[in-house]
Amino acid sequence: MADRHLEPDTPELRARWGAFAWSKDNAKQAKAIVARYPAGRQRSAVMPLLDLAQRQVGAETQTQGWLPIPVMEFVAAQLDMPVIRVVEVASFYTMYNLVPVGRFHVQVCGTTPCMLRGSDDIMAACKKRGMAKGHTSADGMWTLTEVECMGNCASAPMVQINDDNYEDLTADRLDTVLDALASGKSPKAGTQEPGRHTVEPLGGPSTLKEMVKANHDYRGDW
Ligand code: FES
Repeated sequence: MADRHLEPDTPELRARWGAFAWSKDNAKQAKAIVARYPAGRQRSAVMPLLDLAQRQVGAETQTQGWLPIPVMEFVAAQLDMPVIRVVEVASFYTMYNLVPVGRFHVQVCGTTPCMLRGSDDIMAACKKRGMAKGHTSADGMWTLTEVECMGNCASAPMVQINDDNYEDLTADRLDTVLDALASGKSPKAGTQEPGRHTVEPLGGPSTLKEMVKANHDYRGDW
């Protein structure tokens, strides 16, 4: 599981992020997000606003984005809620990065179905490229994190990289994805198994292969 800790609150951090405010577009988006909730319940917008703030930090730093403490304070002020409540949410969900990350955040699932289907090979392939768990590569390109089940067990093993999942991976297939990302391309997300569309059975369907020709009334059989 990811080692979760906040980036220390230093004068340098304050100097860089203390004046954080929404960009023009994000100010509009934030307003629309808060308006989705009933009057008096605007604090319910904390998760989408944290996501929006993280994306803005990402755009400003050319990374996948993270949440410096002054940015969480900004979100708290926007929603008129205690900062600690915002920090509690941000530190609970691993979709929020609490420390700076690289251009690509490679999150390798290591839970049992992925582990049984080869996540150790996937992690080894990442390490072979110079990535280290919990660290960002020296060129600022990759951050490697091990995460728990991402809900793609039927096409395990998988990794999430920024907003996309890559599934049915082997070390070679992951290398192909990472090479494409490194060269500025957008590799196809989802299953990497040739011929597989999503998570349909490998080798083709084994049940419900034909449409029924007529309805059968079972009531007389009961
Ligand atoms: S165990 Fe990896 S996606 Fe579920």
